[in-house]
Amino acid sequence: MRCVRQRVANSPDSPRRPRSTVTPSRYAEPGSDLGEGSATATGEALVDWAAEHAAELLVPLGDRWLHCRAVGERARWVAGAFSQQDSVQLVAAAYLHDVGDAPGLQQTGCHALDGARYLRSLGHERLARLVAHHAEARFEAQLRGLDRELEGFPREKSAVADALTYCDMTVGSAGEPMTLHERALDIARRYGDEHAATRSLAWSMPYLSLALARTERRLRLRGVVP
Ligand SMILES: [Fe+2]
Repeated sequence: MRCVRQRVANSPDSPRRPRSTVTPSRYAEPGSDLGEGSATATGEALVDWAAEHAAELLVPLGDRWLHCRAVGERARWVAGAFSQQDSVQLVAAAYLHDVGDAPGLQQTGCHALDGARYLRSLGHERLARLVAHHAEARFEAQLRGLDRELEGFPREKSAVADALTYCDMTVGSAGEPMTLHERALDIARRYGDEHAATRSLAWSMPYLSLALARTERRLRLRGVVP
Protein backbone atom coordinates (compact mmCIF):
# COMPACT_ATOMS: atom_id res chain seq x y z
CA MET A 1 0.00 0.00 0.00
CA ARG A 2 1.66 3.13 -1.20
CA CYS A 3 0.55 5.87 1.17
CA VAL A 4 -0.30 4.61 4.61
CA ARG A 5 2.40 2.73 6.39
CA GLN A 6 1.77 -0.36 8.46
CA ARG A 7 2.47 0.39 12.09
CA VAL A 8 0.15 -1.70 14.19
CA ALA A 9 1.63 -4.80 15.75
CA ASN A 10 0.36 -8.05 14.27
CA SER A 11 -0.18 -9.90 17.49
CA PRO A 12 -3.60 -9.33 19.02
CA ASP A 13 -1.94 -9.67 22.39
CA SER A 14 0.55 -6.93 21.84
CA PRO A 15 -1.03 -3.84 20.36
CA ARG A 16 1.09 -0.74 20.66
CA ARG A 17 -0.03 1.20 23.64
CA PRO A 18 -2.36 3.98 22.61
CA ARG A 19 -1.23 7.51 23.19
CA SER A 20 -4.74 8.87 23.35
CA THR A 21 -6.01 9.78 26.80
CA VAL A 22 -9.65 9.22 25.85
CA THR A 23 -11.51 6.89 28.14
CA PRO A 24 -13.98 4.76 26.20
CA SER A 25 -16.65 4.95 28.85
CA ARG A 26 -17.39 8.59 28.22
CA TYR A 27 -17.86 10.85 25.25
CA ALA A 28 -15.43 13.65 24.65
CA GLU A 29 -16.50 17.24 24.31
CA PRO A 30 -16.00 18.41 20.71
CA GLY A 31 -12.85 20.45 20.42
CA SER A 32 -11.35 19.15 23.63
CA ASP A 33 -7.65 18.32 23.74
CA LEU A 34 -7.35 14.70 22.66
CA GLY A 35 -3.74 14.75 21.51
CA GLU A 36 -3.29 12.66 18.38
CA GLY A 37 -6.94 11.75 18.47
CA SER A 38 -8.00 15.32 17.92
CA ALA A 39 -9.94 16.28 14.84
CA THR A 40 -6.88 18.15 13.60
CA ALA A 41 -4.87 14.94 13.18
CA THR A 42 -4.26 14.26 9.50
CA GLY A 43 -2.40 11.83 7.28
CA GLU A 44 -0.47 9.08 8.95
CA ALA A 45 -1.04 10.59 12.38
CA LEU A 46 -4.77 10.04 11.93
CA VAL A 47 -4.27 6.47 10.73
CA ASP A 48 -1.94 5.72 13.64
CA TRP A 49 -4.42 7.15 16.10
CA ALA A 50 -7.32 5.20 14.54
CA ALA A 51 -5.47 1.88 14.63
CA GLU A 52 -4.22 2.35 18.16
CA HIS A 53 -7.51 3.69 19.49
CA ALA A 54 -9.46 0.83 17.91
CA ALA A 55 -7.03 -1.62 19.49
CA GLU A 56 -7.42 0.04 22.86
CA LEU A 57 -11.19 -0.30 22.71
CA LEU A 58 -11.58 -3.65 20.95
CA VAL A 59 -8.70 -5.90 22.05
CA PRO A 60 -10.73 -6.94 25.13
CA LEU A 61 -13.37 -8.28 22.72
CA GLY A 62 -10.98 -10.79 21.14
CA ASP A 63 -12.25 -11.75 17.70
CA ARG A 64 -13.82 -8.35 17.18
CA TRP A 65 -10.37 -6.78 17.22
CA LEU A 66 -8.99 -9.50 14.93
CA HIS A 67 -11.75 -8.63 12.47
CA CYS A 68 -11.18 -4.87 12.67
CA ARG A 69 -7.42 -5.23 12.42
CA ALA A 70 -7.80 -7.36 9.29
CA VAL A 71 -10.31 -4.91 7.80
CA GLY A 72 -7.80 -2.12 8.44
CA GLU A 73 -5.03 -4.12 6.79
CA ARG A 74 -7.23 -4.83 3.78
CA ALA A 75 -8.02 -1.13 3.57
CA ARG A 76 -4.30 -0.33 3.47
CA TRP A 77 -4.11 -2.41 0.30
CA VAL A 78 -7.34 -1.05 -1.23
CA ALA A 79 -6.19 2.50 -0.43
CA GLY A 80 -3.70 2.20 -3.29
CA ALA A 81 -6.62 3.03 -5.59
CA PHE A 82 -7.33 6.33 -3.85
CA SER A 83 -5.82 9.76 -3.33
CA GLN A 84 -3.75 10.38 -0.23
CA GLN A 85 -6.58 12.26 1.48
CA ASP A 86 -9.18 9.59 0.76
CA SER A 87 -6.82 6.73 1.60
CA VAL A 88 -6.26 8.14 5.08
CA GLN A 89 -10.01 8.38 5.72
CA LEU A 90 -10.60 4.89 4.34
CA VAL A 91 -7.95 3.19 6.46
CA ALA A 92 -8.86 5.11 9.62
CA ALA A 93 -12.55 4.27 9.14
CA ALA A 94 -11.70 0.62 8.51
CA TYR A 95 -9.93 0.27 11.86
CA LEU A 96 -12.70 2.10 13.68
CA HIS A 97 -15.79 0.84 11.85
CA ASP A 98 -16.94 -1.51 14.64
CA VAL A 99 -15.82 0.64 17.56
CA GLY A 100 -19.46 1.04 18.56
CA ASP A 101 -19.28 -2.54 19.86
CA ALA A 102 -16.87 -1.48 22.61
CA PRO A 103 -18.63 -2.06 25.94
CA GLY A 104 -18.32 1.55 27.08
CA LEU A 105 -19.78 2.88 23.84
CA GLN A 106 -22.85 0.70 23.37
CA GLN A 107 -25.97 2.82 23.67
CA THR A 108 -28.59 1.98 21.07
CA GLY A 109 -27.95 -1.63 20.06
CA CYS A 110 -26.87 -0.47 16.59
CA HIS A 111 -23.07 -0.52 16.60
CA ALA A 112 -22.76 1.60 13.47
CA LEU A 113 -24.79 4.38 15.09
CA ASP A 114 -22.98 4.12 18.42
CA GLY A 115 -19.60 4.22 16.70
CA ALA A 116 -20.63 7.22 14.63
CA ARG A 117 -21.83 9.09 17.70
CA TYR A 118 -18.53 8.46 19.42
CA LEU A 119 -16.44 9.59 16.46
CA ARG A 120 -18.56 12.71 16.06
CA SER A 121 -17.99 13.49 19.74
CA LEU A 122 -14.25 13.44 18.98
CA GLY A 123 -14.71 15.83 16.06
CA HIS A 124 -14.11 13.28 13.30
CA GLU A 125 -17.17 14.09 11.22
CA ARG A 126 -16.23 12.31 7.99
CA LEU A 127 -15.18 9.18 9.85
CA ALA A 128 -18.45 9.32 11.77
CA ARG A 129 -20.50 9.43 8.57
CA LEU A 130 -18.54 6.62 6.95
CA VAL A 131 -18.88 4.43 10.03
CA ALA A 132 -22.59 5.25 10.43
CA HIS A 133 -23.38 3.80 7.02
CA HIS A 134 -20.80 1.07 6.61
CA ALA A 135 -22.10 -2.17 5.11
CA GLU A 136 -25.59 -0.69 4.57
CA ALA A 137 -26.21 -0.24 8.28
CA ARG A 138 -29.37 1.71 7.41
CA PHE A 139 -31.35 -1.52 7.10
CA GLU A 140 -30.44 -2.79 10.55
CA ALA A 141 -31.10 0.67 11.95
CA GLN A 142 -34.53 0.64 10.34
CA LEU A 143 -35.35 -2.73 11.88
CA ARG A 144 -34.34 -1.34 15.25
CA GLY A 145 -36.40 1.82 14.81
CA LEU A 146 -33.24 3.90 14.68
CA ASP A 147 -33.42 5.13 11.09
CA ARG A 148 -34.19 8.71 12.14
CA GLU A 149 -31.20 8.66 14.45
CA LEU A 150 -28.97 7.38 11.66
CA GLU A 151 -30.22 10.11 9.33
CA GLY A 152 -28.45 12.51 11.66
CA PHE A 153 -25.31 11.33 9.90
CA PRO A 154 -25.68 12.32 6.24
CA ARG A 155 -24.56 9.47 4.07
CA GLU A 156 -21.44 9.86 1.94
CA LYS A 157 -22.09 8.14 -1.38
CA SER A 158 -18.60 7.68 -2.69
CA ALA A 159 -15.98 5.20 -3.80
CA VAL A 160 -14.47 5.50 -0.32
CA ALA A 161 -17.75 4.44 1.28
CA ASP A 162 -17.99 1.53 -1.18
CA ALA A 163 -14.43 0.50 -0.36
CA LEU A 164 -15.10 0.53 3.38
CA THR A 165 -18.02 -1.82 2.83
CA TYR A 166 -15.86 -3.95 0.53
CA CYS A 167 -13.20 -4.32 3.21
CA ASP A 168 -15.72 -5.14 5.95
CA MET A 169 -17.70 -7.66 3.92
CA THR A 170 -14.71 -9.60 2.59
CA VAL A 171 -13.17 -10.20 6.03
CA GLY A 172 -14.64 -12.71 8.42
CA SER A 173 -15.46 -12.37 12.08
CA ALA A 174 -11.97 -13.48 13.14
CA GLY A 175 -10.08 -11.72 10.37
CA GLU A 176 -10.11 -14.44 7.75
CA PRO A 177 -10.67 -13.51 4.09
CA MET A 178 -13.99 -14.60 2.66
CA THR A 179 -16.47 -13.86 -0.10
CA LEU A 180 -19.59 -11.78 0.44
CA HIS A 181 -21.71 -14.91 0.27
CA GLU A 182 -19.58 -16.65 2.91
CA ARG A 183 -19.70 -13.52 5.06
CA ALA A 184 -23.50 -13.43 4.95
CA LEU A 185 -23.71 -17.10 5.90
CA ASP A 186 -21.28 -16.51 8.76
CA ILE A 187 -23.32 -13.60 10.09
CA ALA A 188 -26.49 -15.70 10.00
CA ARG A 189 -24.74 -18.58 11.74
CA ARG A 190 -23.29 -16.43 14.51
CA TYR A 191 -26.32 -14.25 15.23
CA GLY A 192 -29.24 -16.51 14.34
CA ASP A 193 -32.17 -15.94 12.03
CA GLU A 194 -34.07 -13.54 14.28
CA HIS A 195 -31.27 -11.07 14.90
CA ALA A 196 -31.52 -7.71 13.14
CA ALA A 197 -28.04 -8.19 11.65
CA THR A 198 -29.25 -11.34 9.91
CA ARG A 199 -32.71 -10.09 8.95
CA SER A 200 -31.31 -6.93 7.42
CA LEU A 201 -29.18 -8.96 5.00
CA ALA A 202 -32.26 -9.74 2.93
CA TRP A 203 -32.49 -6.04 2.04
CA SER A 204 -28.83 -5.11 2.08
CA MET A 205 -27.32 -7.89 -0.06
CA PRO A 206 -28.09 -6.33 -3.47
CA TYR A 207 -26.54 -3.03 -2.35
CA LEU A 208 -23.57 -4.79 -0.78
CA SER A 209 -22.99 -6.70 -4.00
CA LEU A 210 -23.00 -3.47 -6.00
CA ALA A 211 -20.57 -1.76 -3.60
CA LEU A 212 -18.18 -4.70 -3.88
CA ALA A 213 -18.47 -4.79 -7.67
CA ARG A 214 -17.77 -1.06 -7.97
CA THR A 215 -14.74 -1.39 -5.72
CA GLU A 216 -13.37 -4.42 -7.56
CA ARG A 217 -13.73 -2.52 -10.83
CA ARG A 218 -11.90 0.46 -9.36
CA LEU A 219 -9.09 -1.76 -8.13
CA ARG A 220 -8.74 -3.33 -11.58
CA LEU A 221 -8.73 0.03 -13.34
CA ARG A 222 -6.12 1.43 -10.93
CA GLY A 223 -3.95 -1.66 -11.23
CA VAL A 224 -4.28 -2.53 -7.56
CA VAL A 225 -3.94 -6.31 -7.40
CA PRO A 226 -3.27 -8.71 -4.52
FE1 LIG B 1 -17.07 -5.21 10.62
